Amino acid sequence: MKQIYDYIDSNFNNFLEDLKDLLRIPSISSNPEKKGDVRNCAYFAANKLKEIGINKVNIFDTQGHPIVYGEWLGAPGKPTLLIYGHYDVQPPEPLELWKYPPFEPVIEDDKIWARGATDDKGQFFAHLKSVESIFKVEGTLPINVKFLFEGEEEIGSSNLKIFLDKHKELLKCDAVLISDTSLYEPGVPTITYGLRGLCYAEIEVEGPNRDLHSGSYGGAVINPLNALTNIISKLKDKNEKITIPNFYKDVLKISDKEKKAIKKLKFNEKEFLSSIGLKNSIGEKGFNALERIWFRPSLDCNGIWGGFTGEGAKTVIPSKAFAKISIRLVLNQNPAKIFKELEKYLKSLAPKDLKINVKQLHGGDPAIVPIDHPVIAIASKSLTEVFGKETCFIREGGSIPIVVEFMKKLKAPAILMGLGLDSENLHSPNEHFSLTHLRLGMKASANFIMNFANYKRK
Ligand code: BES
Ligand code: MN
Ligand code: MN
Repeated sequence: MKQIYDYIDSNFNNFLEDLKDLLRIPSISSNPEKKGDVRNCAYFAANKLKEIGINKVNIFDTQGHPIVYGEWLGAPGKPTLLIYGHYDVQPPEPLELWKYPPFEPVIEDDKIWARGATDDKGQFFAHLKSVESIFKVEGTLPINVKFLFEGEEEIGSSNLKIFLDKHKELLKCDAVLISDTSLYEPGVPTITYGLRGLCYAEIEVEGPNRDLHSGSYGGAVINPLNALTNIISKLKDKNEKITIPNFYKDVLKISDKEKKAIKKLKFNEKEFLSSIGLKNSIGEKGFNALERIWFRPSLDCNGIWGGFTGEGAKTVIPSKAFAKISIRLVLNQNPAKIFKELEKYLKSLAPKDLKINVKQLHGGDPAIVPIDHPVIAIASKSLTEVFGKETCFIREGGSIPIVVEFMKKLKAPAILMGLGLDSENLHSPNEHFSLTHLRLGMKASANFIMNFANYKRK
Protein backbone atom coordinates (compact mmCIF):
# COMPACT_ATOMS: atom_id res chain seq x y z
CA MET A 1 0.00 0.00 0.00
CA LYS A 2 2.89 2.35 0.71
CA GLN A 3 3.43 3.17 -2.96
CA ILE A 4 -0.24 4.00 -3.44
CA TYR A 5 -0.26 6.22 -0.34
CA ASP A 6 2.90 7.95 -1.56
CA TYR A 7 1.26 8.53 -4.92
CA ILE A 8 -1.75 10.13 -3.21
CA ASP A 9 0.49 12.33 -1.07
CA SER A 10 2.68 13.52 -3.91
CA ASN A 11 -0.26 14.26 -6.20
CA PHE A 12 -2.65 15.65 -3.61
CA ASN A 13 -2.22 19.26 -4.72
CA ASN A 14 -2.99 18.39 -8.34
CA PHE A 15 -6.04 16.45 -7.19
CA LEU A 16 -7.27 19.61 -5.49
CA GLU A 17 -7.17 21.50 -8.77
CA ASP A 18 -9.53 18.90 -10.27
CA LEU A 19 -11.83 19.14 -7.28
CA LYS A 20 -11.90 22.92 -7.61
CA ASP A 21 -12.98 22.59 -11.25
CA LEU A 22 -15.78 20.27 -10.16
CA LEU A 23 -16.88 22.67 -7.43
CA ARG A 24 -16.98 25.62 -9.84
CA ILE A 25 -19.97 24.14 -11.66
CA PRO A 26 -23.20 25.39 -10.02
CA SER A 27 -25.09 22.08 -10.37
CA ILE A 28 -28.14 23.11 -8.34
CA SER A 29 -30.68 20.41 -9.15
CA SER A 30 -33.73 22.20 -7.75
CA ASN A 31 -33.26 25.30 -9.92
CA PRO A 32 -34.66 24.92 -13.47
CA GLU A 33 -32.41 27.77 -14.63
CA LYS A 34 -29.36 25.67 -13.76
CA LYS A 35 -30.35 22.70 -15.90
CA GLY A 36 -27.44 23.40 -18.27
CA ASP A 37 -24.96 23.60 -15.42
CA VAL A 38 -26.20 20.34 -13.94
CA ARG A 39 -25.72 18.76 -17.35
CA ASN A 40 -22.22 20.23 -17.67
CA CYS A 41 -21.39 18.77 -14.30
CA ALA A 42 -22.50 15.31 -15.48
CA TYR A 43 -20.19 15.63 -18.51
CA PHE A 44 -17.37 16.84 -16.31
CA ALA A 45 -17.73 13.80 -14.02
CA ALA A 46 -17.98 11.46 -17.01
CA ASN A 47 -14.78 12.89 -18.47
CA LYS A 48 -12.99 12.47 -15.17
CA LEU A 49 -13.99 8.80 -15.17
CA LYS A 50 -12.51 8.38 -18.65
CA GLU A 51 -9.34 10.20 -17.62
CA ILE A 52 -8.65 7.91 -14.65
CA GLY A 53 -8.94 4.75 -16.75
CA ILE A 54 -12.60 3.73 -16.54
CA ASN A 55 -12.98 2.37 -20.05
CA LYS A 56 -16.76 2.33 -20.52
CA VAL A 57 -18.53 5.56 -19.61
CA ASN A 58 -22.10 6.49 -20.44
CA ILE A 59 -24.37 9.41 -19.72
CA PHE A 60 -28.00 8.37 -19.42
CA ASP A 61 -30.59 11.04 -19.99
CA THR A 62 -33.67 10.95 -17.76
CA GLN A 63 -36.88 12.93 -17.33
CA GLY A 64 -34.78 15.11 -15.05
CA HIS A 65 -31.00 15.40 -14.75
CA PRO A 66 -28.53 12.95 -16.32
CA ILE A 67 -27.12 9.85 -14.65
CA VAL A 68 -23.41 9.15 -15.13
CA TYR A 69 -22.32 5.53 -15.29
CA GLY A 70 -18.87 4.09 -15.79
CA GLU A 71 -17.39 0.63 -15.44
CA TRP A 72 -14.08 -1.18 -15.55
CA LEU A 73 -14.61 -4.93 -15.49
CA GLY A 74 -11.07 -6.11 -16.06
CA ALA A 75 -10.88 -8.47 -13.08
CA PRO A 76 -13.12 -11.42 -13.97
CA GLY A 77 -13.93 -13.68 -11.04
CA LYS A 78 -13.12 -10.90 -8.59
CA PRO A 79 -15.73 -8.96 -6.59
CA THR A 80 -17.52 -5.97 -8.09
CA LEU A 81 -17.86 -2.67 -6.24
CA LEU A 82 -20.47 -0.05 -7.15
CA ILE A 83 -19.43 3.45 -6.07
CA TYR A 84 -22.30 5.93 -5.77
CA GLY A 85 -22.23 9.69 -5.33
CA HIS A 86 -24.36 12.74 -6.17
CA TYR A 87 -22.99 15.60 -8.23
CA ASP A 88 -25.96 17.91 -7.59
CA VAL A 89 -25.86 20.48 -4.81
CA GLN A 90 -28.24 22.55 -2.70
CA PRO A 91 -28.97 26.19 -3.59
CA PRO A 92 -26.36 28.52 -2.01
CA GLU A 93 -28.73 31.23 -0.74
CA PRO A 94 -28.48 33.41 1.32
CA LEU A 95 -25.43 34.57 -0.63
CA GLU A 96 -24.53 37.48 1.65
CA LEU A 97 -23.60 35.08 4.44
CA TRP A 98 -20.80 33.39 2.46
CA LYS A 99 -17.24 34.40 3.25
CA TYR A 100 -16.20 33.44 -0.32
CA PRO A 101 -18.53 33.09 -3.33
CA PRO A 102 -20.07 29.58 -3.21
CA PHE A 103 -18.86 28.53 -6.65
CA GLU A 104 -15.35 29.96 -6.42
CA PRO A 105 -13.60 27.34 -4.28
CA VAL A 106 -10.93 28.57 -1.89
CA ILE A 107 -8.42 26.59 0.16
CA GLU A 108 -7.91 27.98 3.61
CA ASP A 109 -7.26 26.56 7.04
CA ASP A 110 -6.80 22.96 5.77
CA LYS A 111 -10.31 23.07 4.27
CA ILE A 112 -11.81 23.57 0.85
CA TRP A 113 -14.68 26.10 0.88
CA ALA A 114 -17.51 25.89 -1.68
CA ARG A 115 -21.09 24.68 -2.14
CA GLY A 116 -20.88 20.90 -2.57
CA ALA A 117 -17.45 20.61 -0.91
CA THR A 118 -18.67 18.08 1.65
CA ASP A 119 -22.12 17.27 0.16
CA ASP A 120 -21.23 15.45 -1.95
CA LYS A 121 -18.61 16.40 -4.56
CA GLY A 122 -15.61 16.34 -2.23
CA GLN A 123 -16.68 13.03 -0.73
CA PHE A 124 -17.21 11.04 -3.94
CA PHE A 125 -14.09 12.65 -5.38
CA ALA A 126 -12.04 10.66 -2.83
CA HIS A 127 -13.05 7.43 -4.61
CA LEU A 128 -12.28 8.79 -8.07
CA LYS A 129 -8.77 9.64 -7.00
CA SER A 130 -8.21 6.41 -5.10
CA VAL A 131 -9.07 4.44 -8.24
CA GLU A 132 -6.82 6.70 -10.30
CA SER A 133 -3.97 6.17 -7.85
CA ILE A 134 -4.29 2.37 -7.90
CA PHE A 135 -4.34 2.40 -11.71
CA LYS A 136 -1.24 4.61 -11.81
CA VAL A 137 0.76 2.54 -9.32
CA GLU A 138 -0.43 -1.02 -10.11
CA GLY A 139 -1.34 -0.58 -13.76
CA THR A 140 -4.64 -2.35 -13.05
CA LEU A 141 -7.36 -2.77 -10.40
CA PRO A 142 -7.71 -5.86 -8.18
CA ILE A 143 -11.54 -5.79 -8.42
CA ASN A 144 -14.25 -4.73 -10.87
CA VAL A 145 -15.49 -1.20 -10.36
CA LYS A 146 -18.72 0.52 -11.38
CA PHE A 147 -19.36 4.23 -10.80
CA LEU A 148 -22.83 5.73 -10.57
CA PHE A 149 -23.27 9.49 -10.13
CA GLU A 150 -26.69 11.09 -10.04
CA GLY A 151 -27.79 14.72 -10.30
CA GLU A 152 -31.04 14.49 -8.33
CA GLU A 153 -30.21 13.33 -4.82
CA GLU A 154 -31.11 16.68 -3.32
CA ILE A 155 -34.53 16.52 -4.98
CA GLY A 156 -35.45 12.97 -4.07
CA SER A 157 -33.67 10.66 -6.61
CA SER A 158 -36.94 9.76 -8.37
CA ASN A 159 -35.30 9.16 -11.76
CA LEU A 160 -32.51 7.08 -10.27
CA LYS A 161 -35.17 4.83 -8.73
CA ILE A 162 -36.62 4.22 -12.20
CA PHE A 163 -33.10 3.69 -13.61
CA LEU A 164 -32.35 1.11 -10.91
CA ASP A 165 -35.44 -0.89 -11.82
CA LYS A 166 -34.46 -0.87 -15.50
CA HIS A 167 -30.76 -1.61 -15.10
CA LYS A 168 -30.44 -4.22 -12.36
CA GLU A 169 -28.09 -6.34 -14.47
CA LEU A 170 -25.86 -3.40 -15.43
CA LEU A 171 -25.54 -2.34 -11.79
CA LYS A 172 -25.08 -5.86 -10.39
CA CYS A 173 -22.42 -5.80 -7.66
CA ASP A 174 -21.23 -7.29 -4.40
CA ALA A 175 -21.39 -4.05 -2.41
CA VAL A 176 -22.31 -0.38 -2.85
CA LEU A 177 -19.81 2.11 -1.49
CA ILE A 178 -21.18 5.54 -0.57
CA SER A 179 -19.48 8.51 1.03
CA ASP A 180 -22.28 10.98 1.73
CA THR A 181 -22.46 10.94 5.53
CA SER A 182 -20.38 12.23 8.45
CA LEU A 183 -17.57 11.13 10.71
CA TYR A 184 -18.62 10.84 14.34
CA GLU A 185 -15.75 13.13 15.31
CA PRO A 186 -12.83 14.66 13.40
CA GLY A 187 -10.23 11.97 12.71
CA VAL A 188 -12.48 9.11 13.83
CA PRO A 189 -13.22 6.60 11.04
CA THR A 190 -16.93 5.99 10.89
CA ILE A 191 -19.45 3.69 9.27
CA THR A 192 -23.07 4.78 9.37
CA TYR A 193 -25.49 1.88 9.73
CA GLY A 194 -28.81 3.71 9.94
CA LEU A 195 -30.44 6.67 8.15
CA ARG A 196 -33.80 8.25 8.80
CA GLY A 197 -36.48 8.37 6.11
CA LEU A 198 -38.38 11.42 5.01
CA CYS A 199 -41.91 12.58 4.29
CA TYR A 200 -41.96 16.12 2.90
CA ALA A 201 -45.23 18.02 2.50
CA GLU A 202 -46.29 21.42 1.26
CA ILE A 203 -49.49 22.90 2.65
CA GLU A 204 -51.62 25.54 0.96
CA VAL A 205 -54.57 27.10 2.75
CA GLU A 206 -57.13 29.52 1.42
CA GLY A 207 -59.66 31.60 3.29
CA PRO A 208 -61.30 34.69 1.73
CA ASN A 209 -61.38 34.77 -2.06
CA ARG A 210 -58.98 37.77 -2.19
CA ASP A 211 -56.60 39.77 0.00
CA LEU A 212 -58.52 42.05 2.38
CA HIS A 213 -57.94 45.31 4.23
CA SER A 214 -57.24 44.20 7.79
CA GLY A 215 -59.12 47.21 9.15
CA SER A 216 -62.32 46.68 7.20
CA TYR A 217 -62.43 42.92 7.79
CA GLY A 218 -60.02 42.12 10.66
CA GLY A 219 -61.64 40.47 13.68
CA ALA A 220 -64.64 39.20 11.80
CA VAL A 221 -63.19 36.76 9.26
CA ILE A 222 -60.65 33.97 9.11
CA ASN A 223 -56.98 34.87 8.50
CA PRO A 224 -55.28 31.96 6.67
CA LEU A 225 -51.84 32.77 8.08
CA ASN A 226 -53.10 32.76 11.66
CA ALA A 227 -55.06 29.59 10.97
CA LEU A 228 -52.05 27.85 9.41
CA THR A 229 -49.71 28.66 12.32
CA ASN A 230 -52.41 27.39 14.65
CA ILE A 231 -52.66 24.11 12.77
CA ILE A 232 -48.88 23.65 12.70
CA SER A 233 -48.62 24.27 16.43
CA LYS A 234 -51.05 21.41 17.00
CA LEU A 235 -48.84 18.86 15.20
CA LYS A 236 -46.86 18.35 18.43
CA ASP A 237 -48.07 18.30 22.04
CA LYS A 238 -46.40 19.93 25.03
CA ASN A 239 -44.13 16.90 25.48
CA GLU A 240 -42.96 17.24 21.86
CA LYS A 241 -44.81 14.08 20.84
CA ILE A 242 -46.12 14.21 17.29
CA THR A 243 -49.91 14.16 17.41
CA ILE A 244 -50.69 12.71 13.96
CA PRO A 245 -52.96 9.67 14.58
CA ASN A 246 -51.20 6.28 14.31
CA PHE A 247 -47.88 8.08 13.87
CA TYR A 248 -45.83 5.98 16.29
CA LYS A 249 -47.58 2.67 15.54
CA ASP A 250 -44.77 1.22 13.40
CA VAL A 251 -41.82 2.79 15.23
CA LEU A 252 -39.29 0.20 16.44
CA LYS A 253 -38.14 0.42 20.05
CA ILE A 254 -34.48 1.16 20.73
CA SER A 255 -32.90 -2.13 21.82
CA ASP A 256 -30.87 -2.40 25.02
CA LYS A 257 -27.83 -3.24 22.92
CA GLU A 258 -28.22 0.00 20.97
CA LYS A 259 -28.81 2.04 24.12
CA LYS A 260 -25.55 0.64 25.47
CA ALA A 261 -23.72 1.39 22.20
CA ILE A 262 -24.94 5.02 22.39
CA LYS A 263 -23.68 5.35 25.96
CA LYS A 264 -20.27 4.06 24.87
CA LEU A 265 -19.96 6.90 22.34
CA LYS A 266 -19.79 9.42 25.21
CA PHE A 267 -21.78 12.03 23.31
CA ASN A 268 -21.18 15.49 24.73
CA GLU A 269 -24.62 17.10 24.57
CA LYS A 270 -23.40 20.37 26.05
CA GLU A 271 -20.73 20.80 23.42
CA PHE A 272 -23.12 19.78 20.66
CA LEU A 273 -25.56 22.48 21.77
CA SER A 274 -23.01 25.20 22.44
CA SER A 275 -21.52 24.71 18.95
CA ILE A 276 -24.82 26.05 17.58
CA GLY A 277 -25.34 28.70 20.24
CA LEU A 278 -27.86 26.79 22.37
CA LYS A 279 -28.05 25.45 25.91
CA ASN A 280 -31.04 23.10 25.89
CA SER A 281 -32.06 20.13 23.80
CA ILE A 282 -35.78 20.01 23.28
CA GLY A 283 -37.58 16.96 22.03
CA GLU A 284 -39.49 13.88 22.98
CA LYS A 285 -39.42 13.19 26.71
CA GLY A 286 -37.43 10.18 27.87
CA PHE A 287 -34.75 10.33 25.16
CA ASN A 288 -31.37 12.03 24.92
CA ALA A 289 -30.30 14.13 21.93
CA LEU A 290 -28.57 11.30 20.04
CA GLU A 291 -31.52 8.97 20.52
CA ARG A 292 -33.83 11.71 19.30
CA ILE A 293 -31.79 12.31 16.15
CA TRP A 294 -30.89 8.73 15.27
CA PHE A 295 -33.74 6.57 16.52
CA ARG A 296 -36.85 8.73 16.86
CA PRO A 297 -38.95 10.48 14.22
CA SER A 298 -39.16 14.28 14.16
CA LEU A 299 -41.31 16.97 12.57
CA ASP A 300 -40.17 20.42 11.50
CA CYS A 301 -41.67 23.38 9.71
CA ASN A 302 -39.07 24.33 7.07
CA GLY A 303 -40.73 27.47 5.79
CA ILE A 304 -43.92 29.44 6.05
CA TRP A 305 -45.06 32.32 3.90
CA GLY A 306 -47.96 34.41 2.70
CA GLY A 307 -49.31 37.94 3.04
CA PHE A 308 -46.89 40.81 3.11
CA THR A 309 -43.18 40.27 3.81
CA GLY A 310 -41.66 43.30 2.12
CA GLU A 311 -40.17 46.27 3.89
CA GLY A 312 -42.43 48.35 6.11
CA ALA A 313 -46.02 47.62 6.94
CA LYS A 314 -49.05 46.66 4.90
CA THR A 315 -52.31 46.04 6.67
CA VAL A 316 -53.60 42.99 4.89
CA ILE A 317 -55.40 39.74 5.55
CA PRO A 318 -53.97 37.41 2.91
CA SER A 319 -56.24 35.15 0.93
CA LYS A 320 -53.71 32.32 1.06
CA ALA A 321 -50.90 31.00 3.24
CA PHE A 322 -48.30 28.27 2.69
CA ALA A 323 -45.93 26.09 4.68
CA LYS A 324 -43.42 23.32 4.10
CA ILE A 325 -43.19 20.51 6.63
CA SER A 326 -40.62 17.74 6.82
CA ILE A 327 -41.04 14.62 8.88
CA ARG A 328 -38.01 12.40 9.51
CA LEU A 329 -39.03 8.78 9.80
CA VAL A 330 -37.50 5.72 11.40
CA LEU A 331 -37.98 2.00 10.94
CA ASN A 332 -40.62 0.68 10.22
CA GLN A 333 -42.53 3.85 9.29
CA ASN A 334 -43.68 4.18 5.70
CA PRO A 335 -43.57 7.63 4.01
CA ALA A 336 -46.72 7.09 1.91
CA LYS A 337 -48.72 5.86 4.89
CA ILE A 338 -47.52 8.74 7.07
CA PHE A 339 -48.37 11.26 4.35
CA LYS A 340 -51.96 9.96 4.17
CA GLU A 341 -52.32 10.24 7.95
CA LEU A 342 -50.83 13.73 7.90
CA GLU A 343 -53.15 14.90 5.14
CA LYS A 344 -56.23 13.52 6.90
CA TYR A 345 -55.16 15.05 10.20
CA LEU A 346 -54.41 18.48 8.72
CA LYS A 347 -57.87 18.53 7.12
CA SER A 348 -59.46 17.61 10.44
CA LEU A 349 -57.64 20.50 12.14
CA ALA A 350 -58.74 23.12 9.60
CA PRO A 351 -61.42 25.50 10.85
CA LYS A 352 -64.61 26.12 8.85
CA ASP A 353 -64.13 28.11 5.65
CA LEU A 354 -60.43 27.26 5.40
CA LYS A 355 -59.70 25.25 2.28
CA ILE A 356 -56.60 23.14 2.75
CA ASN A 357 -54.53 21.41 0.11
CA VAL A 358 -51.60 19.13 0.98
CA LYS A 359 -49.00 17.98 -1.55
CA GLN A 360 -46.29 15.39 -0.98
CA LEU A 361 -43.02 16.75 -2.38
CA HIS A 362 -40.84 13.76 -1.81
CA GLY A 363 -40.34 10.81 0.42
CA GLY A 364 -37.78 8.22 1.29
CA ASP A 365 -37.63 5.08 3.36
CA PRO A 366 -35.48 4.86 6.45
CA ALA A 367 -32.48 2.55 6.01
CA ILE A 368 -30.57 0.13 8.13
CA VAL A 369 -27.37 -1.53 6.93
CA PRO A 370 -26.60 -5.14 7.92
CA ILE A 371 -23.81 -4.32 10.34
CA ASP A 372 -22.51 -7.91 10.62
CA HIS A 373 -22.07 -8.42 6.86
CA PRO A 374 -18.47 -9.45 5.99
CA VAL A 375 -18.00 -6.49 3.60
CA ILE A 376 -18.71 -4.12 6.48
CA ALA A 377 -15.94 -5.86 8.43
CA ILE A 378 -13.54 -5.35 5.51
CA ALA A 379 -14.52 -1.68 5.25
CA SER A 380 -14.15 -1.15 8.97
CA LYS A 381 -10.69 -2.79 9.02
CA SER A 382 -9.60 -0.75 5.97
CA LEU A 383 -10.64 2.49 7.65
CA THR A 384 -8.92 1.60 10.92
CA GLU A 385 -5.65 0.80 9.14
CA VAL A 386 -5.58 4.23 7.50
CA PHE A 387 -6.98 6.45 10.27
CA GLY A 388 -5.06 4.59 13.00
CA LYS A 389 -8.16 4.45 15.18
CA GLU A 390 -10.95 2.00 15.82
CA THR A 391 -13.89 2.44 13.44
CA CYS A 392 -16.97 3.86 15.06
CA PHE A 393 -20.50 2.70 14.10
CA ILE A 394 -23.19 5.34 14.18
CA ARG A 395 -26.59 6.24 12.78
CA GLU A 396 -27.45 9.55 11.13
CA GLY A 397 -30.54 11.70 11.32
CA GLY A 398 -30.33 12.67 7.63
CA SER A 399 -31.70 10.74 4.68
CA ILE A 400 -30.34 9.20 1.46
CA PRO A 401 -33.48 7.67 -0.05
CA ILE A 402 -31.66 5.60 -2.68
CA VAL A 403 -29.77 3.50 -0.09
CA VAL A 404 -32.71 1.21 0.64
CA GLU A 405 -33.43 0.84 -3.07
CA PHE A 406 -29.85 -0.28 -3.73
CA MET A 407 -30.03 -2.92 -1.03
CA LYS A 408 -33.47 -4.17 -2.07
CA LYS A 409 -33.01 -4.15 -5.82
CA LEU A 410 -29.33 -5.11 -6.14
CA LYS A 411 -29.38 -7.35 -3.07
CA ALA A 412 -26.03 -5.91 -2.05
CA PRO A 413 -25.05 -4.29 1.25
CA ALA A 414 -24.41 -0.54 1.33
CA ILE A 415 -21.23 0.69 2.97
CA LEU A 416 -21.78 4.22 4.25
CA MET A 417 -18.18 5.36 4.57
CA GLY A 418 -18.82 9.01 5.41
CA LEU A 419 -15.94 11.48 5.26
CA GLY A 420 -17.76 14.72 6.11
CA LEU A 421 -18.62 16.36 9.40
CA ASP A 422 -22.08 17.55 10.49
CA SER A 423 -20.40 20.87 11.30
CA GLU A 424 -19.20 21.41 7.70
CA ASN A 425 -22.27 23.49 6.85
CA LEU A 426 -23.89 21.21 4.33
CA HIS A 427 -27.04 22.92 2.98
CA SER A 428 -26.01 26.23 4.58
CA PRO A 429 -23.60 29.08 3.84
CA ASN A 430 -19.83 28.49 4.07
CA GLU A 431 -19.91 24.80 3.28
CA HIS A 432 -16.43 23.29 3.50
CA PHE A 433 -14.61 19.96 3.61
CA SER A 434 -11.55 19.01 5.62
CA LEU A 435 -8.49 18.32 3.45
CA THR A 436 -7.15 15.99 6.13
CA HIS A 437 -10.30 13.89 5.84
CA LEU A 438 -10.20 14.06 2.05
CA ARG A 439 -6.65 12.68 2.03
CA LEU A 440 -7.45 9.98 4.60
CA GLY A 441 -10.59 9.17 2.61
CA MET A 442 -8.58 8.63 -0.59
CA LYS A 443 -6.21 6.30 1.23
CA ALA A 444 -9.00 4.44 3.03
CA SER A 445 -10.85 4.01 -0.25
CA ALA A 446 -7.73 2.63 -1.94
CA ASN A 447 -7.04 0.32 1.00
CA PHE A 448 -10.62 -0.92 0.94
CA ILE A 449 -10.45 -1.66 -2.78
CA MET A 450 -7.23 -3.68 -2.29
CA ASN A 451 -8.69 -5.57 0.69
CA PHE A 452 -12.01 -6.16 -1.07
CA ALA A 453 -10.18 -8.22 -3.71
CA ASN A 454 -9.99 -11.07 -1.20
CA TYR A 455 -13.71 -11.05 -0.45
CA LYS A 456 -15.36 -14.36 -1.29
CA ARG A 457 -19.10 -14.13 -1.76
CA LYS A 458 -21.08 -17.09 -0.49
N1 BES B 1 -25.79 13.85 2.37
C1 BES B 1 -27.10 14.20 2.78
C2 BES B 1 -27.65 13.24 3.81
C3 BES B 1 -27.03 13.41 5.17
C4 BES B 1 -27.24 14.55 5.88
C5 BES B 1 -26.25 12.43 5.71
C6 BES B 1 -26.66 14.73 7.10
C7 BES B 1 -25.66 12.60 6.92
C8 BES B 1 -25.85 13.75 7.64
C9 BES B 1 -28.01 14.23 1.56
O1 BES B 1 -27.41 14.90 0.48
C10 BES B 1 -29.27 14.99 1.89
O2 BES B 1 -29.18 16.17 2.11
N2 BES B 1 -30.43 14.32 1.91
C11 BES B 1 -31.69 14.98 2.07
C12 BES B 1 -32.79 14.10 1.56
C13 BES B 1 -33.36 14.47 0.23
C14 BES B 1 -34.56 13.61 -0.11
C15 BES B 1 -33.65 15.91 0.05
C16 BES B 1 -31.97 15.23 3.53
O3 BES B 1 -31.56 14.45 4.39
O4 BES B 1 -32.65 16.22 3.80
MN1 MN C 1 -25.48 14.28 0.18
MN1 MN D 1 -27.63 17.11 0.83
